[in-house]
Amino acid sequence: MTTTTLAAVLRTRGGSYRLEQVELADPGPGQVLVKIAACGICFTDIGVQRYEQGTPLPHVLGHEGAGTVAKVGAGVTNVAPGDRVVLSYASCGACANCAHDHPQYCASFMPLNYGGVLSDGSVPMRGHGEEEAIFGGFFGQSSFATHAIAYARNTVKVGSELPFALLAPFGCGLQTGAGTAYNTLDVKAHHAFAVMGAGSVGLAALLAAVDRGCRTIIAVDRVPERLEMARRLGATHTLLADGRDLVAALRGIEAGGLDRIVDTTGVSAVIRAGLEALASRGQLAMLAVTAPGTEITFNPNTLLGGRALKGAVEGDADPQAFIPWLIGRHLSGRFDHAPLITEYPFSAINEAVADMAAGRVVKPVLVMD
Ligand SMILES: NC(=O)c1ccc[n+]([C@@H]2O[C@H](COP(=O)([O-])OP(=O)(O)OC[C@H]3O[C@@H](n4cnc5c(N)ncnc54)[C@H](O)[C@@H]3O)[C@@H](O)[C@H]2O)c1
Ligand SMILES: [Zn+2]
Ligand SMILES: [Zn+2]
Repeated sequence: MTTTTLAAVLRTRGGSYRLEQVELADPGPGQVLVKIAACGICFTDIGVQRYEQGTPLPHVLGHEGAGTVAKVGAGVTNVAPGDRVVLSYASCGACANCAHDHPQYCASFMPLNYGGVLSDGSVPMRGHGEEEAIFGGFFGQSSFATHAIAYARNTVKVGSELPFALLAPFGCGLQTGAGTAYNTLDVKAHHAFAVMGAGSVGLAALLAAVDRGCRTIIAVDRVPERLEMARRLGATHTLLADGRDLVAALRGIEAGGLDRIVDTTGVSAVIRAGLEALASRGQLAMLAVTAPGTEITFNPNTLLGGRALKGAVEGDADPQAFIPWLIGRHLSGRFDHAPLITEYPFSAINEAVADMAAGRVVKPVLVMD
């Protein structure tokens, strides 16, 4: 049995998406078939669209899906048909990091999330009347489609309080930004905090810093509209990255330096400036998935004084615990990401990508029905 699905297929690196009918396999053991209602676009989708990162073509991307369970495969007990769910990243459940509450550092993270086939080795979709293999399983879902195959482990059951368009970005962008602030950096009220890059990941980190009551909250970006959004969400200061001396500008706001910085730009000069603007014992977490060939340089003496530079995946969060917790935060009025979202019909996927890449919208969410 297969399910006929409308999917946004990427056929050439750097090309546009084309909506095509594909045949999606039935869910196998441990797998879940989800009718996708909405899917956010994260910059990671745009990175994979533009650059070779181990994802074979033709491929269906999309990794912030939300919808309703249609069918479950053998052995799936955490969700049942009819349940409302958010899909997050895939992990194996068996390696040392999965066994010790860190599925985001799963030993099989790359093959499971970028490899194009399901964990049982099968190609999930067929095009052109079953003749052509279409790769998927992107982040254990491939949700730029009306249906997706996910796994029990990355299918998170949610309540009925929120519409799917508000739920979808919890699967990656919100979890990553917020989790980096809450978990990786454990921001506190006495911290001076800055976020470099005020896209959806950066602004989710900023919302968490606002929630924790950080005494100073600075947003840095080169798009003025994103800084206006940061102000609206609770930034105490904003800095336009227009070629000015960022270290001097940050030190001008916090002479003693910053305690916690989240970088979502992946730009060497920005990260270097952040490190130089850290207070002693300050920490900078970098999250960007950079283009091939990117290198970052800084004076190693900057790290003396107990400063730390670290990387993080998916906010150091286990989606089954963190996503319901963060939704609860939203419902109690302490994490309002609604202003970040702009809805697009699924058929406008290429326009949504272009608007996000140009900084015209922060978090486009495709609505499938
Ligand atoms: N580590 C993870 O688990 C993880 C998860 C999700 C996304 N990501 C990555 O995080 C990054 C951010 O994702 P996003 O969806 O928020 O993307 P985005 O493009 O919406 O946000 C990035 C922001 O950085 C700003 N920026 C770029 N260069 C700058 C510069 N030189 N100075 C100041 N600002 C600058 C851009 O204007 C933009 O607002 C991407 O690289 C994405 O691939 C990582
Ligand atoms: Zn694992
Ligand atoms: Zn993402």
